[in-house]
Amino acid sequence: MIQNVGNHLRRGLATVFSGRISRKSIPRAEDEGAMADGEGYRNPTEVQMSQLVLPCHTNHRGELSIGQLLKWIDTTACLSAERHAGCPCVTASMDDIYFEHTISVGQVVNIKAKVNRAFNSSMEVGIQVVSEDLCSEQQWTVCKALATFVAHRELSKVKLKQVTPVTEEEKTEHGVAAERRRMRLVYADTIKELLARCAIQEDLGTRDCDHVVPAEQTRVESVELVLPPHANHQGNTFGGQIMAWMENVATIAASRLCRAHPTLKAIEMFHFRGPSQVGDRLVLKAIVNNAFKHSMEVGVCVEAYRQEVETQRRHINSAFMTFVVLGADDQPQKLPWIRPQPGEGERRYREASARKKIRLDRKYIVSCEQTEVPLSVPWDPSNQVYLSYNNVSSLKMLVAKSNWVLSLENNQVRLYTLEEDRFLSFHMEMVVHVDAAQAFLLLSDLRRRPEWDKHYRSAELVQRVDEDDAIYHVISPALSADARPQDFVILASRRKPCDSGDPYVIALRSVTLPTHRETPGYQRGENLCSGFCLWREGEQLTKVSYYNQATPGFLNYVTTNVAGLSSELSTTFKACAQFLLDNRSDLAPSLQTL
Ligand code: COA
Ligand code: ADP
Repeated sequence: MIQNVGNHLRRGLATVFSGRISRKSIPRAEDEGAMADGEGYRNPTEVQMSQLVLPCHTNHRGELSIGQLLKWIDTTACLSAERHAGCPCVTASMDDIYFEHTISVGQVVNIKAKVNRAFNSSMEVGIQVVSEDLCSEQQWTVCKALATFVAHRELSKVKLKQVTPVTEEEKTEHGVAAERRRMRLVYADTIKELLARCAIQEDLGTRDCDHVVPAEQTRVESVELVLPPHANHQGNTFGGQIMAWMENVATIAASRLCRAHPTLKAIEMFHFRGPSQVGDRLVLKAIVNNAFKHSMEVGVCVEAYRQEVETQRRHINSAFMTFVVLGADDQPQKLPWIRPQPGEGERRYREASARKKIRLDRKYIVSCEQTEVPLSVPWDPSNQVYLSYNNVSSLKMLVAKSNWVLSLENNQVRLYTLEEDRFLSFHMEMVVHVDAAQAFLLLSDLRRRPEWDKHYRSAELVQRVDEDDAIYHVISPALSADARPQDFVILASRRKPCDSGDPYVIALRSVTLPTHRETPGYQRGENLCSGFCLWREGEQLTKVSYYNQATPGFLNYVTTNVAGLSSELSTTFKACAQFLLDNRSDLAPSLQTL
């Protein structure tokens, strides 16, 4: 059962994580299908908003201002969250947003929001924005966004009811939402750590001085008084309103660099650190941190104070926005360089370069097409968080597929297959009398796999990355008599359930390591998506499922088993069940500390 496999699931991550969207125009029906794929079915938390773009909503280019769009997005998402929670909710964060289309005056903006998953007091809300040309009937996806809302009750702590996903798309989002939440909660620390590692040294003195603008010239400071229309009925400022004010000052700073009308392309994660209320004064400050050849990063920070205690300022939010200047041909124009102020300015300048690199690395891993990347992605400190995310969410997306077909049933082992245009996947399941947590510990240590899987000759732990991730070097026998034995470098990422309906997950995929390069003695094997899901069915009862997506090298072996011409897969799986039974009560100390 070695995982010589591939996957095309990362395509989906483009939409679920980064919000990256298709540039081409899309027909109406297809777009409807993206939100709800059961006929006549409508998600109970879904809320829709349609707005006609009027001149009062637009900028000087006659395009909908992103600030206005953010307000509409936040309101729609908040109403969806409140529909699920049954009580007032506040915006905790908004993930990265990439804007692929501008929206012109006269067009209609259609926004749909629904709760992907509820946790304890917080919910992830998925938002889709489509623009519509009423005359040509064409529609374009403008952006996708993911926001987290926190439910608030005055006197008691909120425990939200769970969301029950129905459609395949809902199941996928529900599964991956837990993984995205994990990333979100460590986002600030991850970025801090990456910025520290990614020390980009640029020689600021060598730039063409004719086109250098001192950063100081772009600095903006603006104050806003929070009035009742900016807040909900409990007096809490709407997150969308704050984002709109932030976009406003960022646009002014960007315009001061390019002396033209810039277009906002991307916003990095917003996190609302603390609440703000009616009567607060908000001070918004922005400056261009760095200008690259065709884009610039503007940073904005927001502080709040009450009139009575002006000296006590609360940090509400900081955000980084990427702007371009589009020419008549709609292509980004070359921008002037920026000269940062010594000290803080230079630090921000370097951090903006590092953030750009991190953004690109992250896009490469979480949102690129199968054909654009080698099967095994190099493992390095700058991408390990994203590779781990990719590993788990790829498996969860495979698990959520609705078109699995039961192909064989043999002695309590069930073999399911999934045929897609370019891949054949299989999964096997059986119920084993063992505790799910125990099975999780036993199966997540790949060093023990040779005890039951004859396709694993050996598995050596190469690196313990953290409590949940480890890298192994696996050697397996040759698949045919004339071939060399194979070796794999495998990242194993494991996750405990987020709530009672969730499985334990052990996801496996190949990575490359400089210390374990391909050698002549072995044929290097690749595995992009396989692993285990363990569902607790009772006190000492677990449904164990093994998933694998087969690539051509492994296909013959899989199809021979699926056609019933060989029973090797099911024999191996039964050996796995026996291994779990044999070890159900005595865990090696090394496992308990995993
Ligand atoms: N992104 C997403 N969710 C986050 C988060 C972040 N950066 N930080 C915390 N949360 C979630 C937690 O996961 C937790 O969810 P759970 O109950 O489902 O497990 C929930 O927020 C509460 O976390 P907790 O640790 O109890 O509270 P906190 O002290 O971290 O506060 C907020 C979190 C969001 C409530 C708080 O920062 C806040 O009030 N922010 C301002 C919200 C607001 O008013 N927004 C409107 C514009 S100002
Ligand atoms: P950091 O300084 O680490 O970037 P902050 O939260 O202090 O984080 O600020 C976020 C961004 O807001 C900064 O990168 C900068 O672009 C902008 N900013 C902060 N302080 C000011 C200021 N006094 N004037 C103008 N812009 C500011």
